Amino acid sequence: MNIHIYDNAEQIAKAVGTMIINAVNEKPDITLGFATGASPVPTYNFLSKAYEDKKVSFKDITTFNLDEYCDLPKSDKNSYYSFMHQNLFDRIDVKEENVNFLNGNAVDAEEECRRYDALIDSKRIDIQLLGVGRNGHIGFNEPANKFTKGSFKVRLTQSTIDANSVYFDENPMPRYALTMGTVSIMKSKQIIMIATGKSKQDAIYGMVHGDITPSCPASVLQLHPDVHIFLDREAAQRL
Ligand code: GLP
Repeated sequence: MNIHIYDNAEQIAKAVGTMIINAVNEKPDITLGFATGASPVPTYNFLSKAYEDKKVSFKDITTFNLDEYCDLPKSDKNSYYSFMHQNLFDRIDVKEENVNFLNGNAVDAEEECRRYDALIDSKRIDIQLLGVGRNGHIGFNEPANKFTKGSFKVRLTQSTIDANSVYFDENPMPRYALTMGTVSIMKSKQIIMIATGKSKQDAIYGMVHGDITPSCPASVLQLHPDVHIFLDREAAQRL
């Protein structure tokens, strides 16, 4: 694991954003895996600004997002589809037909997961961006007895509901989501994780120094040959 520690989120955004821009400039038809949550937002701002300044074009990239809530219309402001369009896709020149999401409203969730996995396998993700949950989840792979494989429907844990319900002011947040599985994430050629703040300290410690165990799903990243972890000092404090 390559661990990079910075003073603040802006510095992380610059470092991660620069890595992504260099990769896109080197391979314009790159496949990028994106994550939601607060952690990647400064990086998305950095990428949008770089596009505005004509330092990069995203017109030939393909994207896959890690996860999506179930039973929430795509148009809801809290869907991950809306989140990504607001924070990145509407601000750059990515083509809508090259943007891929799990459909959390699919009638047959298993079929939808198979469709998504086949599409990912046909492209292979070059760089997968990740955040981490306070309980060590990646995507929505919650702590469990065994590691997950492909995409699947998950019941969210209380820790995740507590962390994410702040975004749901009127309606209660969904209890289920579709997520890429651990094996799907691990198949990405390179993984970049961003984690900031005190609330991530334990998850980061478990991920880096703990046993490789599905009770801390992020610990599986110890087995990936090309992973970069970007932390601020608070998130890195227990290392
Ligand atoms: C959410 C997302 C994850 C994300 C994590 C951390 O539940 N499903 O993909 O990495 O929580 O979010 P944040 O960056 O807001 O702490």
